[in-house]
Amino acid sequence: MNASNTATPRHLLTLDGLSRDVLTALLVRAQAFAEGHYDRRALDGVAVCTLFFEPSTRTRMSFTLAAQRLGADVLNFDASTSSTSKGETALDTMKNLEAMGVRGFVIRHREDGAVAALAGHANPGTSLVNAGDGRSAHPTQGLLDMLTLRQAKGADFSRLKVAIVGDVKHSRVARSDLQALRALGAGEIRVCGPAALLPDDGTLQGCVVSHDLDAALEGVDAAMMLRLQRERMEEGLVTSLDDYHRDYGLTAARLRRAAPDAVVMHPGPMNRGVEITDEVADGPQSLILKQVGNGVAVRMAVLEALLRG
Ligand code: CP
Repeated sequence: MNASNTATPRHLLTLDGLSRDVLTALLVRAQAFAEGHYDRRALDGVAVCTLFFEPSTRTRMSFTLAAQRLGADVLNFDASTSSTSKGETALDTMKNLEAMGVRGFVIRHREDGAVAALAGHANPGTSLVNAGDGRSAHPTQGLLDMLTLRQAKGADFSRLKVAIVGDVKHSRVARSDLQALRALGAGEIRVCGPAALLPDDGTLQGCVVSHDLDAALEGVDAAMMLRLQRERMEEGLVTSLDDYHRDYGLTAARLRRAAPDAVVMHPGPMNRGVEITDEVADGPQSLILKQVGNGVAVRMAVLEALLRG
């Protein structure tokens, strides 16, 4: 599934380069899983390890549940109690788990490119899924966001106006969402945030870029809010959370600028009262928990595509 190897999918490292057909096939399969149509023995005898070197709630738990629902044996690696605390490298950790027979690795790492680097050392029968590396990619979050949008707005993305709001610069979710929205032919992609939190490396090519949230929300069908990734920021990029909320927080009043049936999304974890108010996060237009539920179905589709047979 990696872009360089679409004919014989082996890893899912990024959505970059995946075609509309490949993405659509995964979303259709995930929809079937979301509706409860699956074979509980599909991955019988396959060992899958979640290998997370950064914290996670949604991604890790949903991959675990996805693998279990398909009948896999699941190992959850805990970095804090593992031999990495004695200096063992991520690569040695993966090779040792491969030696035990693990065939699927779901990996999160703080460094950009770390999962791709590990994939370069994997045995021929091993598959890796990038569960988020640095600010680079979070492909299954991108897929679950597209499944959620598809359920709410239909399969034709060409008339959709989508706003991605907040700390795009440090967001692997935003990069994967942008890649998926482009591949699926989204009508208009708006990106809004303070200048210091928008990337200037070509990531936003083709997007309508704005620093004015009221203008960016005008008539949109979906507002995809992002978390402030303070753990990846240089000191001082955001001086005041109150100022950030005043300028870029999604409130019920602001949401009224969007289309009347607009939906609100957020990958989590949320900084409530900063990028989004409780009223919006828990309101009728919010699909935030729907996204979380769809994470299980999407991850089942990815594990099945990489590991079955
Ligand atoms: N959206 C997301 O990646 O959440 P977690 O960090 O909890 O996995």
